[in-house]
Amino acid sequence: MTKVLVATVKPFAPAAVNGIREVVEGAGYEMALLEKYEDQKDFIDAASDADAIIIRSDKANAEVIAGANKLKIIVRAGAGYDNVDLEAATAKGIVVMNTPGQNSNAVAELALGMMVYMARNRFNGTSGRELRGKKLGIHAYGNVGRYVAEIAKGFGMKCYAFDPFISKEDIEKDGVIALDSVEELYSTCQFISLHIPANEKTKGSVNTDLLSMMPQGATLINTARKEVVCEDSLKKAFAERDDFIYISDIAPDCAEEIAEHYEGRFFFTPKKMGAQTSEANINAGIAAASQIKAFLEEGDRTYQVNK
Ligand code: 3PG
Repeated sequence: MTKVLVATVKPFAPAAVNGIREVVEGAGYEMALLEKYEDQKDFIDAASDADAIIIRSDKANAEVIAGANKLKIIVRAGAGYDNVDLEAATAKGIVVMNTPGQNSNAVAELALGMMVYMARNRFNGTSGRELRGKKLGIHAYGNVGRYVAEIAKGFGMKCYAFDPFISKEDIEKDGVIALDSVEELYSTCQFISLHIPANEKTKGSVNTDLLSMMPQGATLINTARKEVVCEDSLKKAFAERDDFIYISDIAPDCAEEIAEHYEGRFFFTPKKMGAQTSEANINAGIAAASQIKAFLEEGDRTYQVNK
């Protein structure tokens, strides 16, 4: 029997698991559920007889792939697939997909939620600031960036974006000002929200050159990946300007050092929370299961990322 493994260190909401099960079992497949595992070995073992795997930020690394000899498809229920060893998968003829857009609103709501929380001094009773009229720079205008713009406009923010892969017309039809360079974005906007993927080109790319350009009251919001921000530059920004605020969905490696010196100027979620809503879990989980079914039954490769 075809086996679909759902491996999630950070489990989906129960309603999403039920929805995935309905699709998987409705197709006549068996579903195996591995949640909250603490040892990567448990994932390797569970994957060994799987035909298909659904993961979140779980590491589908070379070892998992090497040990999974029936495996045909891995679907990352979410956007970023930096946690999948694409080379190892491709070498074994395994298709890798993501589910773009399915959890994007949840991530965007978290970005704005954290911005309000910090602008209001973490609701500590002191006078904070408002978002209305402030300039928000959206660094990469993909699915999350679009939702961020939509919500931020509701707050009365002036939205700007830079994305070399999307035409200015496409950005500007949303009432967002498209800028020509990343430098222009950082030098124009007091708030910058990051939505770039983590890859060899982007890791560490948000650096001193960019951070030092930000106007007074600089606030960097990272719901992308911690690796895209250069941590030496981050520490330098905290040390050299007392207006700099960093908000991130998951702490940087230097979190303790920042916490020690810069109380009140940062907020880090204890766990990656961007996609952690039942709506996002249901959307992404069911999309992943449906994509597996469509691939196994019809060879549908829409959303394949290792072409
Ligand atoms: C994504 O890339 O889709 C988000 O970062 C969410 O990741 P998660 O599914 O591990 O919460």
